Amino acid sequence: MTGMPQPFGLLAEVTHQCPLHCVYCSNPVELFERSAELGTDDWLRAIRQAAELGVLQVHFSGGEPLVRGDLETLVAECRGLGLYTNLITSGLGLTESRAESLVSAGLNSAQLSIQGDTAESTNLVAASKRFDKKEAAARIIRDAGLPLNMNVVLHRVNLDRLDAIIDVCVEWGAERLELANTQYYGWALRNRELLLPSKTQLDEAVGVYERRKAELEGRMELLWILPDYYEPYPKPCMGGWAQTALTVSPDGRVYPCPVAEEITTMEFPSVRDHDLEWIWAESPAFQAYRGTDWMPDPCRSCSRKELDFGGCRCQAFALTGDAGRTDPVCIHSPDHHLVQDALDRANDGAHGDAHGDGDGDGEQLVYRRPTVS
Ligand code: SF4
Ligand code: FES
Repeated sequence: MTGMPQPFGLLAEVTHQCPLHCVYCSNPVELFERSAELGTDDWLRAIRQAAELGVLQVHFSGGEPLVRGDLETLVAECRGLGLYTNLITSGLGLTESRAESLVSAGLNSAQLSIQGDTAESTNLVAASKRFDKKEAAARIIRDAGLPLNMNVVLHRVNLDRLDAIIDVCVEWGAERLELANTQYYGWALRNRELLLPSKTQLDEAVGVYERRKAELEGRMELLWILPDYYEPYPKPCMGGWAQTALTVSPDGRVYPCPVAEEITTMEFPSVRDHDLEWIWAESPAFQAYRGTDWMPDPCRSCSRKELDFGGCRCQAFALTGDAGRTDPVCIHSPDHHLVQDALDRANDGAHGDAHGDGDGDGEQLVYRRPTVS
């Protein structure tokens, strides 16, 4: 595969089942049931093919990956192949014995998500009050000898609580905290009117982040994922289409990113029918937006095209219905008004109901639906 980029990361979305119902979930709006999921042997084959392709890290995600009883088998396969493994978890369902068996199988790290700093704020965002389970999971991860990485998705409902959220992560012993401003696809796009923060709110949060980052230096690493709607240029999403990583979804279809499942105008190949090398190097879906040849203007003649690759294909599709257009976040995009209009509403003094309780403009947060096993 001369000249072909090599993926270093595999996101293994082993299930869509999840005990939480987060209003910003990046899973597709249409979720797979357990009966549609790949079996253990299919996953083992996909992991071996990923290693042959050059993948070095496997991130087990979902949904909640702990739902899968064969996670240890998959982790052990990775260890045998010399792959680094990371568990991305809500913490619900993590017991001491499960953590021990995963570590024995070779698990290298875990990332625990929180939605807020209390049971009430967790309930508002995830329709679950099990904050106690998250605290227990943090302890279990640390006691199992794994580095504790934490993650919180930030938005209009919880940004004002950033100081308290960081306090919780310090108290629980996190080594690293990812402060991920919401990216608006899937469920988050459905809830955008209530999740998109105002500029004032965001500026205050940036101040908190900078102060705490300096204060915690050497104790806990803070990472700020930019809120792209407020940037003049789009993010270089995934380092460009089909450049650095691939995602295998619960039913076996393979995507260049975790959100591409939402691009309903494209057909994505499955590990049930093809090997990963063909999918990565030759499948039409992975070739479609690789490099810069596909670009329309203004990207085609723009000096930034090798820096941001025209932005995010999933965002272009979500906002315009065409994955091949310039990301509307870009100030040069002919569709930029789609982002600007949302920002104007978020900064309109009349914008109400940021807490989703129905007492403002009548809108309510839409929760990711429960999934059926
Ligand atoms: Fe990036 Fe395209 Fe905008 Fe240029 S025009 S900054 S390449 S998105
Ligand atoms: Fe899919 Fe950006 S999230 S390309």
